[in-house]
Amino acid sequence: MPDTETVFDDLVTVAWTDGRLRILDQTLLPAEERYVDLTSVDEVVEAIRRLRVRGAPAIGGAGAYGMVIALDEARPATAAEARKVLADAAERIGTARPTAVNLSWAVERVSAAAAVGSSAAEVRARALAEADAIVAEDRAACDAIGRHGADELVDRHRLLTHCNAGRLATLGIGTALGVVYAKAAAGHPVEVYAPETRPLLQGARLTAWELRRFGVPVSVLPDSAAAMLLASGRVDAVVVGADRIAANGDVANKIGTFGHAVAAARAGVPFYVAAPLSTFDPDTPDGDRIEIEQRDATEIRRCGDRPTTPPDVDVWNPAFDVTPHELVTGLITEVGVLRGDYSLAIARLFERSTTREGEAP
Ligand code: MRU
Repeated sequence: MPDTETVFDDLVTVAWTDGRLRILDQTLLPAEERYVDLTSVDEVVEAIRRLRVRGAPAIGGAGAYGMVIALDEARPATAAEARKVLADAAERIGTARPTAVNLSWAVERVSAAAAVGSSAAEVRARALAEADAIVAEDRAACDAIGRHGADELVDRHRLLTHCNAGRLATLGIGTALGVVYAKAAAGHPVEVYAPETRPLLQGARLTAWELRRFGVPVSVLPDSAAAMLLASGRVDAVVVGADRIAANGDVANKIGTFGHAVAAARAGVPFYVAAPLSTFDPDTPDGDRIEIEQRDATEIRRCGDRPTTPPDVDVWNPAFDVTPHELVTGLITEVGVLRGDYSLAIARLFERSTTREGEAP
């Protein structure tokens, strides 16, 4: 595989170009590679809700630039007016999808950084600088996650992932797929099993597309075949991304992840989660407190233009599930691989105190 910088730079998930937010419309992949420009908060919210842009870090980046768009739309005359615009936009954009903490984290970070500006122009300049910083940091985090993951999985070549936690889901080379690309770039053998990821097929459409584009061997399977694949001994490790990691290490990720973790434990296959620190939520104590996005029934009742169920049948369509931390072998982050006592490791990272048995708080 050629060096990642050159290969990846012609595929842009989220970019600020000529005062506009440009995204690759992921609903059209793999049939069509079309970039669209978003110029209003309505368009940003729609693009995030419809999954034109998706994946926790990528929606964080899109949301961050959405805050600049809010200022450009409203054209506030004073810093106070600009702060009001930012507060409204943070509420609207930050709640467009509730599970991925990166989104609310990013809009709040932009809001806080911009708020100290002493004029409307300075507020905007600060908002844009902060959004750019979020993108640069995620890019660096993905590179570091790739390096740590490639070291951790140096002898494990056949990897099962879920959904898409790659270039398309982040502002860099990806988290779970960042590990894959880092292994490939180091010249190590690597091949990926990509469950199709019902109902919106991020594995089949997106993970398969980007891995093919970057020359990594990939096989797509129905989600329901993953347990059998794991039991067959043909997978050396599972590596998935995350939308939110609670203070105790419980992991919310795309629906179906929990099932893979259970099957991996049964088969004795290690189960890793790769995620930047921006996906950790030390304020949420455990997975039970993570809000799980429920999506529209039509995503289940139809596949493309075709009905898949009788009309109006009842549907339960959670977008994410929670994998309990006991099933997680390691959390691959930009600062290294966390393992063992996740509560303690996460508290240390975020400099919080945890009360442990036998210890004073
Ligand atoms: O609904 P999606 O496609 O946004 O879900 C994406 C995932 O579940 C990813 O695994 C997660 O956001 C991590 S992306 C690095």
